[in-house]
Amino acid sequence: MSEAARASAAPAGAGDVRDAFGDGSAPVRASDFGDGFVWGVAHASYQVEGAWDADGKGPSIWDEFTHRRGLLGRSGIRDGSTGDVACDFYHRYREDTALVARLGFRAQRFSVSWPRVLPEGTGRANPAGLDFYARVVDACLEAGVEPWVTLYHWDLPQALQARGGWANRDVLGWFEEYVALVARALGDRVRHWMVFNEPLSFTILGYLAGAHAPGVRSPMAFLRAVHHVNLCQAVGARVLRDLARGAAVGTTQYFAPILPWRDGALFEPARRAVDALVNRLYVEPNLGLGYPTRDLPLARWIGRRIARPGDEQAIRVDWDFLGAQYYTRLRALPLPIPWLRGAPLFGRDFRRYDVTSTGWEVQPDGLYEVLSRLHGYGRFARLVVTENGASFADRLEGDRVRDPRRIAFYEDHLAQVLRARREGVPVDGYFCWSLTDNFEWADGYVPRFGLVYVDYPTQRRIVKDSGRWWRAWLAGETVARGER
Ligand code: FCB
Repeated sequence: MSEAARASAAPAGAGDVRDAFGDGSAPVRASDFGDGFVWGVAHASYQVEGAWDADGKGPSIWDEFTHRRGLLGRSGIRDGSTGDVACDFYHRYREDTALVARLGFRAQRFSVSWPRVLPEGTGRANPAGLDFYARVVDACLEAGVEPWVTLYHWDLPQALQARGGWANRDVLGWFEEYVALVARALGDRVRHWMVFNEPLSFTILGYLAGAHAPGVRSPMAFLRAVHHVNLCQAVGARVLRDLARGAAVGTTQYFAPILPWRDGALFEPARRAVDALVNRLYVEPNLGLGYPTRDLPLARWIGRRIARPGDEQAIRVDWDFLGAQYYTRLRALPLPIPWLRGAPLFGRDFRRYDVTSTGWEVQPDGLYEVLSRLHGYGRFARLVVTENGASFADRLEGDRVRDPRRIAFYEDHLAQVLRARREGVPVDGYFCWSLTDNFEWADGYVPRFGLVYVDYPTQRRIVKDSGRWWRAWLAGETVARGER
């Protein structure tokens, strides 16, 4: 990519964030991160597997949500699509895993679909479902790719949602049973586990905003879900420590720097409330720091109405690693609701930063900020960037997808990871979101986040320029800035 093209992809003023070290020269190299650094790609069951009702799988809340039709026969998904087929990873996991290895990555983060292994959520296990994940793990190991397993990436069994889902405290027992089943099946070969994927996203969008499955809009159901998920973090960690001995147990969280709506003291309470909601509500209770009730009065209801004696102790977890997921920063929209104070909103500053096709501001130094802040807790021995990536309007031209902005995105974010690492932040892994384009929740198949393009009608995979860039970069080939 020429400097001119690069400049047009990046609005004026972005040069300072592109170059983490201020010397305007040296591109970041994979070797700068050291030998033990883990390079991987990430994806999730509902987003890639398809086979939504194959081989004894039960329906998940996402199956129900995407099939649900409302006014004028429309669903809550932007393009009306479902994950019924998605990327057909259920049948193509071998090829896709081989592709992970071919691109030079040494780790693949995937999630287990709870209703695939326990169709009714509890009770009867589905051997074919368990066998599928055993085969995925084996395919990884055979390809020299380390499997990193997420236990919950948003596809709750519908049978459990019918009983209240995450808002029902019984979920502690249901989750314990599920985690034990998976840990027993895969614990001998999986060395890295993540209990949850981004509790913020599925609780706030699923139980408060109603934009994601299960489509509930209830502040009380939301708060119950928050507390039960936080308790389940500890339940999951305990079960994994018992049954997958010696494995590293972590979880993943969404993080975003929060800007005030406008400068000035008037906007600070909303900024602090949104910051507490996004960055602290799902992290601090597990550290024994309690809920951030001072900044987020809404969370007081958890103590008053939801928590039970002993929860404060039961909720504590000593993570082996924390997965930080970073996409963008957010702005705090002040709300005239005393207990909520503010809402997180995507925002953009056209003067300085580029935006992706999902409207998310490209802001690489936010990743540095997030990692440094987490390190500031003094409680995380190990941080891993378990998701980072961007969607752009990719076009297939013959057999090629030119996605220079995604390459620039990765380069710039990697520079910020290295910057944090050089300052002593113990970050030792990085996963791209995502290997392939996939089902992007309420946005359907419109956004494309992959390093590999998926031609959905044929399921053909085409490695994008960014995928090629990663392969060369990981192999230590010189990929000079501005000469791609
Ligand atoms: C994250 C989700 C992941 C994907 C990316 C784009 O918040 O964890 O499933 O949707 O965003």
